[in-house]
Amino acid sequence: MRIGILTSGGDCPGLNAVIRGAVLHGDRAYGSDFVGFRDGWRGLMDADFVPLDRHSVRGLSKQGGTILGSSRTNPFDGPRGGAVNVSAVLTSHRIDAVIAIGGEGTLTAARRLADAGLPVVGVPKTIDNDLAATDYSFGFDTAVEIATEAVDRIRTTAESHRRCIVVEVMGRHSGWIALHTGMAAGAHAILVPEKSVSIEQVCVWVQAVRDRGRAPIVVVSEGFVMEGMSEPHSHKGLDSFNRPRLGGIADVLAPLIEERTGIESRSTALGFAQRGGVPSAYDRVLATRLGVASTDAAERHQWGTMVSLKGTEIVSVSMAEATATPKLVPLARYEEAALLFG
Ligand code: F6P
Repeated sequence: MRIGILTSGGDCPGLNAVIRGAVLHGDRAYGSDFVGFRDGWRGLMDADFVPLDRHSVRGLSKQGGTILGSSRTNPFDGPRGGAVNVSAVLTSHRIDAVIAIGGEGTLTAARRLADAGLPVVGVPKTIDNDLAATDYSFGFDTAVEIATEAVDRIRTTAESHRRCIVVEVMGRHSGWIALHTGMAAGAHAILVPEKSVSIEQVCVWVQAVRDRGRAPIVVVSEGFVMEGMSEPHSHKGLDSFNRPRLGGIADVLAPLIEERTGIESRSTALGFAQRGGVPSAYDRVLATRLGVASTDAAERHQWGTMVSLKGTEIVSVSMAEATATPKLVPLARYEEAALLFG
């Protein structure tokens, strides 16, 4: 079998480990050939690909980013988009299967292609950990490690200056990164998209911390919607899937906190640092297992399925299930963390 691999959407640590796992397993177990499409769906639409053999994936599991490049190109957009055009590229280059490694946007497009009869299997990837039908996605563990270390560092400078610092993390409309980072770093308040909170409540937590002589640390998810706001803060337009680009809520919150409490307050957005650098050992293992399983799924012609982590097992689930609704932080998990706020 000749299998094409692509990495699409926002990158995350572990993508290369998936590619390595898929290629090594496919080569050894099935004698498969692999190609890698450059820059996600763009490479597939333009028939822009490179051969991937076992030598080209050597030592890759610890390497951040993706050797194939990524983009947010939607395979249904533009004159070369759509299932018919994509199918023609696969046929003319004798590619029998596509392994699409991506998040919600990528897998939604992959599902549409599979529904149209194309041979596509999916691998879940996102630092946001917001994909349903998998317990964890690789990239999340690394992002939380990076963000936790950053908050640990921010805490020392906050204490020196007796400031409140609002730290913004990624996560889109799910608060997993904020919840885990905030708990791990002992933040005094965690603000997530799943739970709207008033600025007055945030100030109560901040003031209580200050009254004990500590420097308040607030971890906020980029998708947090404060009471009185109708949607998450966004001032960077839409992405190619028509989703608002989020970010900037920490800059909104810090002056409001300072104004109401008189405590000097600053903001820091951790941004792309959360997606960069080497994957954690946990993410390397998960990504490698998913890569191996994706080759098995392709060889078994399990089109329209996504490999997924359930408990400790790697299983196959339908992409429809994986993309139906995002996996959000349950209220009980938030309330458990909130027991320690203030
Ligand atoms: O989905 C991963 C993610 O990093 C989100 O947390 C963030 O909102 C978004 O991607 C940023 O996207 P881009 O790389 O297109 O700016």
